[in-house]
Amino acid sequence: MKIETFELERRQSVWENRVKFNLTESGVHPYNLTEILSKEEIEDFLSMRIGYGQTNGSDELRETISCIYPGSDLDNVLVTNGSSEANFVTIWSLLEPGDELILMLPNYMQIWGIARSFGIKVRPFHLKEELNWQPDMVEVRSLISPKTKMIAVCNPNNPTGAVLSEKAMEELITFAKESDAWLYADEVYRGAELDGEESPTFWGRYNKSIIACGLSKSYALPGLRIGWLVGPKSFIEKAWSYHDYTSIASGYLSNWIATKALQPEMRMKILTRNRDMLKENLLVLQKWVDDREDKFVFIPPRAGGLAFLRYKFSINSTKLTTKLREEKSCFIVAGDCFGMDGYIRIGIGSEKEYFIAGLELLSEMIDELT
Ligand SMILES: Cc1ncc(COP(=O)(O)O)c(C=O)c1O
Repeated sequence: MKIETFELERRQSVWENRVKFNLTESGVHPYNLTEILSKEEIEDFLSMRIGYGQTNGSDELRETISCIYPGSDLDNVLVTNGSSEANFVTIWSLLEPGDELILMLPNYMQIWGIARSFGIKVRPFHLKEELNWQPDMVEVRSLISPKTKMIAVCNPNNPTGAVLSEKAMEELITFAKESDAWLYADEVYRGAELDGEESPTFWGRYNKSIIACGLSKSYALPGLRIGWLVGPKSFIEKAWSYHDYTSIASGYLSNWIATKALQPEMRMKILTRNRDMLKENLLVLQKWVDDREDKFVFIPPRAGGLAFLRYKFSINSTKLTTKLREEKSCFIVAGDCFGMDGYIRIGIGSEKEYFIAGLELLSEMIDELT
């Protein structure tokens, strides 16, 4: 089966560990084990037998995850290898060639690429800068057809950091209900809200809503590769049987650490530290943009580790980011990766000094170009 290149991920895979400044890391500065486990827990960890474990996720972890989603229990949860596997398994298990998928753009472009390679017709709708990165619901409605099988959103959004308004959420659910379509929400940035108020989930609002989430972004634990799906039990059962074909199980050690990280007190501690880091860096970035208001248009993110900026000078975004990488060893993502030339994506989740040093290199580049 042919696939189109997943530009966003490919560029990151090739460059993120090969530059001095990765200024587009999409999560928050990662934790180490001593920060999330007690001494006793580390002792336990060291003596664990590394078996397969329960392949859909340990009961304890699924129970712990279900506590984040009122009305669910462990049978509503499938643990996956990252939310990327959750996305893959969902599209693979629910959609057939010829089905129509209504997809929010811009987006982490994984679902876009997978669905198209499977022969699913992707009908995009757009978050609009002039609407503060909200969708135009007239556009969404115009896309619904008898072949609509799923509406998929990324909320909070990568790359804009936008959070859907309550009204937009309600309308999306109404559209999904009217066409008996699945409502699939990638909520991997939920919990990283800059105002500290957790954004609402699509879970529990419709009997065909499915949530993907994981520990890579808001929880700053990407190396664990723990993600999950929360959905109706019949869907979770089906997705588990597809998961048998992808990776069998997520890592046994990761399951165990994830269970500790998601205990209510630790979960709050992790999210609070991360939000504080994001808030601090956003202040730095906002000041940086204010000092260059003739060069950028910037709607600050409401949640997540990313800032999406439109620049007003004339250079292609891939060219700009390649130049920055080659000449300054600083990596940011081009708007081209989202089909939106004229924009750049900057990660705001790194340690402050590192973030400032990376921004300095971007300043140098811009001064040279303008
Ligand atoms: C919106 C979104 N969903 C899913 C993923 C996949 O992340 P992971 O597999 O590490 O959970 C990413 C990664 O950048 C993302 O931005």
